[in-house]
Amino acid sequence: MGDGPSSPDVPARPDVSPNPDVIIVGGGIIGLSTAWQLLQEGTEAVVLDPAPGTGASHAAAGMLAPIHEAYWGESHILRLNLAASQAWPAFADKIGVDAVDYRRHGMLMAAYDADDKALLDNLGDLHEQEGLPVERLRSRECRAREPLLAPGVRGGVYSPLDHQVNPRRVVAELLSRVPAIAASATEVSRNRVVADDGRVMTCQQVVVAAGAWTGRLLGVPIRPIKGQILRLSGPEGLLRLPVRGVVRGSSVYAVPRSDGEIVVGATQEEQGFDTRVTAGGVYELLRDVLALLPGLSEIDLVETWAGLRPGAPDNAPIIGTGEDGIVYATGHYRNGILTAPVTAAAVAAVVQGHEPPVDLAPFSPNRFDAKPGDHTPDPEHLSEVPA
Ligand code: FAD
Ligand code: GLY
Repeated sequence: MGDGPSSPDVPARPDVSPNPDVIIVGGGIIGLSTAWQLLQEGTEAVVLDPAPGTGASHAAAGMLAPIHEAYWGESHILRLNLAASQAWPAFADKIGVDAVDYRRHGMLMAAYDADDKALLDNLGDLHEQEGLPVERLRSRECRAREPLLAPGVRGGVYSPLDHQVNPRRVVAELLSRVPAIAASATEVSRNRVVADDGRVMTCQQVVVAAGAWTGRLLGVPIRPIKGQILRLSGPEGLLRLPVRGVVRGSSVYAVPRSDGEIVVGATQEEQGFDTRVTAGGVYELLRDVLALLPGLSEIDLVETWAGLRPGAPDNAPIIGTGEDGIVYATGHYRNGILTAPVTAAAVAAVVQGHEPPVDLAPFSPNRFDAKPGDHTPDPEHLSEVPA
């Protein structure tokens, strides 16, 4: 990975039950949120992960952006993302709004040139068709909302519903509330997990939330989609709003935190499990973000990083019980921070046999030709898990 910290701050964790009801394989934001939800509902859950919180959740910018992440042909994902957006205020309240830097300023999407404006107009048509609350803005109106934008921007879209959070803080807060075992699962079935330290654990239900590594462990078609991302640091309030830009056809975003950090992302690369930060990746991000927000050129570049988004062939998450009896919570691709609260509530409902808060049919693990259970675990898997 990049030159950032090798792992987030990990506070002391609660004790691990010797007989948990549920074992969750994977301690990213999805596994941790699910464990926390189950614990709150009185179900004993434990997370198994050799390096919790260091996967995609450590890379993420933290946009909670159902509208700016809306794409043609993905209405079912949009509905899930909107439900997640509605779940966030209560979720943040419970963890601590300031502790996780949950901010509700809305988000601005800006077009750099005329062709980029045509792309944005096309997205605006989608927003209109879906009845989403957005404001289409002229160049001057964009700069009135975000004065740091380059004078040449052609126009934009403001979305009041798109919010943001600091994912590293969310993960650290969840880790302090959830019991976790530092080991890697090598064999998994509905109610049994074998770990690389030799321990064999049984429970009533295993949940697999192993992010991009899920496809290496079990037979679901999840692949890693690499994202390189930068962290800049400047005066607090330098950038008022999260800005997503289309710059000569490329997408770039800048997300300001309360403490002056600005997260700039992200590349989208099919490179397998490679997490190298490359000169080309950093160049492209800086080129595009400085074209859009030239005032950022003077502030410090404090971290470069790369993470692996877990992606399914149809870009939708995988949530529910597989034909192998394992409950899956993976494939959250570009929106796992956004969808963590609603995924956690849905998985808890599946485990406890209640009606989930959202329709899970489009997200079934059994919707693909290769079904869970068709696959033999990859012996190379362990060397691929982040350490
Ligand atoms: P991860 O966080 O990757 O966690 C998976 C965990 O499983 C890891 O901790 C790993 O150690 C563990 N694991 C793997 N194999 C095993 C095993 N065999 N045994 C035990 N544990 C195992 N989403 C948003 O909503 N908003 C954003 O702004 C955003 N920005 C992003 C920017 C970048 C650059 C990237 C890469 C992603 C971004 N995402 C964003 C997507 C989001 O980060 C992911 O969808 C989300 O973090 C997935 O969470 P997860 O818990 O499934 O996976
Ligand atoms: N959702 C932003 C990203 O995945 O880069």
